[in-house]
Amino acid sequence: MISHHKTSINPLYFRNGEETAPRFRMPDQGMLPENAYQMIHDELTLDGKPKLNLATFVTTSMESSADRLYAEAFNKNLIDKCEYQQTTSIEDRCLRMIADLWHSPRPLKTMGVSTTGSSEACMLGGLALKRRWQKERKKQGKPIDRPNIVFSSAVQIVWKKFANYWDVEPRYVNITPNRPCMDPEDVLAVIDENTIGVVSTFGVTYTGLYEPVETIAKALDELESSTGLDIPIHVDAASGGFIAPFLQPDLVWDFQLPRVKSINVSGHKYGLVYPGIGWIIWREAEDLPEDLIFHVSYLGGNIPTFALSFSRPSAQVLLQYYNFLRLGKAGYYEVQRASQSVAYFLKLTIQTIGPFEVLTDGSDIPVVTWRLKEGYTSNWNLYNLSDQLLTFGWQVPAYPLPPDMEDVTIMRVVVRNGFSMNLAHLFLKNLQQAVSFLDSLESPIPHDMSCDISIRH
Ligand SMILES: Cc1ncc(COP(=O)(O)O)c(C=O)c1O
Repeated sequence: MISHHKTSINPLYFRNGEETAPRFRMPDQGMLPENAYQMIHDELTLDGKPKLNLATFVTTSMESSADRLYAEAFNKNLIDKCEYQQTTSIEDRCLRMIADLWHSPRPLKTMGVSTTGSSEACMLGGLALKRRWQKERKKQGKPIDRPNIVFSSAVQIVWKKFANYWDVEPRYVNITPNRPCMDPEDVLAVIDENTIGVVSTFGVTYTGLYEPVETIAKALDELESSTGLDIPIHVDAASGGFIAPFLQPDLVWDFQLPRVKSINVSGHKYGLVYPGIGWIIWREAEDLPEDLIFHVSYLGGNIPTFALSFSRPSAQVLLQYYNFLRLGKAGYYEVQRASQSVAYFLKLTIQTIGPFEVLTDGSDIPVVTWRLKEGYTSNWNLYNLSDQLLTFGWQVPAYPLPPDMEDVTIMRVVVRNGFSMNLAHLFLKNLQQAVSFLDSLESPIPHDMSCDISIRH
């Protein structure tokens, strides 16, 4: 018998004395590389399949030449900027390209950095807002002990972390059934002289909707004219930053609005790169307070750095550049349009399946959400449906909406590159089968609260 404190090695592989390894303690001796590989490889077969993971926004496949490039670069540390000068130069080119895509007035001069993902980028954006506000207040001889930041109740968790970690009061603008996105009037109602900025989410994690950055900016312009309060906007475009420039090029949400001072995006979402890359760009160099930048001499040379992490893999940066070269604007358009077509197809079919009411249809970012029609059944709910879909391998999250709408549970599919029309057909077939099974139940499924896991990214 193997105790749960030990993991066993397949008899085909083990040598004497090596048939088990402790699970929670580092083994005293090592093992052959094949054995270590096989043990981990076998265990990972229990993970879900990335391709069927409809919960994540993050890229799960790239083409083989990208994989080759990844394998060539995984041993380079991005922070070794003097040692890997071409990698550094490529990172800089990516920054300029993104700044240009988002209409920075000076894409070749402005500041920006690559990050591990949008979470780090948002922290940096928030810090810059806080520092800018502190400087202004100090100049005016006013206290700086009570900063606040304004965002919607549907904000991604990183902003709640930001507020908590950096001692900034979060001020929520609650979304409601009638106002599913942050409303400019409600934004103005919570702003005061201690507000360091407004965060507008461009591609809300819960629903995929774009918040109305332009109208929020106009409302803040008017506030400035009437009160003198100059409140900057940070756009959290984790998903939308690589969708809108291609699918909604006429939408004004970026640095075309002078009030938008910084924008972040996840390169590993609709930037189409493997997990581990985000970007933040400031509108102009002056919008990033100079005293947040450190100059490091022990890397060789005098290297400016502004990031929470020091060492980081460089492969994802190279893959971002690969995608920019490989796809160009036309290619990004084609890829995102294909995802959006699949989203529309899902929406059209799902709304014809009896129990569902579609809430968002993928016309902003390609994300489709739906709820169970009120009063449809008391025998099952969307959590049960999520479990049923898992029996086919599909991972589709069900979760409650944020405060004021938390009694509404929704289900969400994120359509990403690789979720083809063919897979969508198969998914819809399995969805219908799952619904038929649940509809055939004669009494309610016993409810196990511990299973109400909500997967949000
Ligand atoms: C709006 C928004 N902001 C930030 C994040 C965090 O992004 P990352 O996973 O790249 O750190 C997400 C993730 O889904 C998001 O949707």
